[in-house]
Amino acid sequence: MERNDPCWCQSQKKWKKCHYPLLNPQEEDSRRHETYIKTYGIYTKSPEEILKIRKACQLAAHILDRLCTQAQAGITTNELDLLSVSLHKLHGAVPAPLGYGTPPFPKSICTSINDVICHGIPNDIPLKEGDILNIDVTCILDGYYGDCSRMVCIGQVNAEKEQVVRVSQECLMKGISILKPGLMLCEIGRTIESHATRERCSVVNQFVGHGTGIAFHEPPQVPHHYNNLQIPLCPGMIFTVEPMINAGRRGAVIDPIDHWTARTEDGKPSAQWEHTVLITQDGYEILTQS
Ligand code: MF3
Ligand code: CO
Ligand code: CO
Repeated sequence: MERNDPCWCQSQKKWKKCHYPLLNPQEEDSRRHETYIKTYGIYTKSPEEILKIRKACQLAAHILDRLCTQAQAGITTNELDLLSVSLHKLHGAVPAPLGYGTPPFPKSICTSINDVICHGIPNDIPLKEGDILNIDVTCILDGYYGDCSRMVCIGQVNAEKEQVVRVSQECLMKGISILKPGLMLCEIGRTIESHATRERCSVVNQFVGHGTGIAFHEPPQVPHHYNNLQIPLCPGMIFTVEPMINAGRRGAVIDPIDHWTARTEDGKPSAQWEHTVLITQDGYEILTQS
């Protein structure tokens, strides 16, 4: 009997989906690991690796907590960056953004204000009442990565900003809430874009979530917009969900001088929240929960 033949039990299912001899769990994990590497370039993580990545993620969430508390009118993003450097040192971790990419990213965190979508560079301009700010922390602890970001509202913000901050957080949590083994990767983008559209916001498609844990950015890419990626999620996958939601049009323009700062093309506000998540046997675990 071949794997694709009808099962002998007359269930009408294929043998491989029915009474095909079950592998023991360890054998199943190691087969799946090989298949995901070969088919998708996705590195599924072992229980030992998951322990280390969870630690890195918890530290990233803790540092992000501290930075968000300090983010108030009058403080500069450079001051937040300095605090981030000292918190990483204190915990024996390294900030992943510093020196990353081309040209090398110059600071230890990303700070993206108002119409900045992502990859904002800390500077000496004080935060002011009415600003919305995304702080993005990625730390490397013992060689493993944790990546998360949140929005902070500085004092009272206008209705358009409040809306985009709320909708982006809802998009993140809705996108995560459906995760489980067998779900196709494209369902994340469907869930997120359908919510954003319902709320009259747009979803940035120039930047995506990503596998992470062993390296900063690993396969797969995780689009937050409508897409057709037919990759079934499986236990041991670790990736980020980090929807960037715009109040106006979805388009982004990268700063021609620093080559990092991405701004909305129409100057309207943008917001983003990010978690690193693990796919478990029956669902998901948010690793960057503080
Ligand atoms: N932390 C960002 C992400 O969520 C990446 C920042 S890259 C940097 O993927 F170089 F700008 F730090
Ligand atoms: Co990320
Ligand atoms: Co990030």
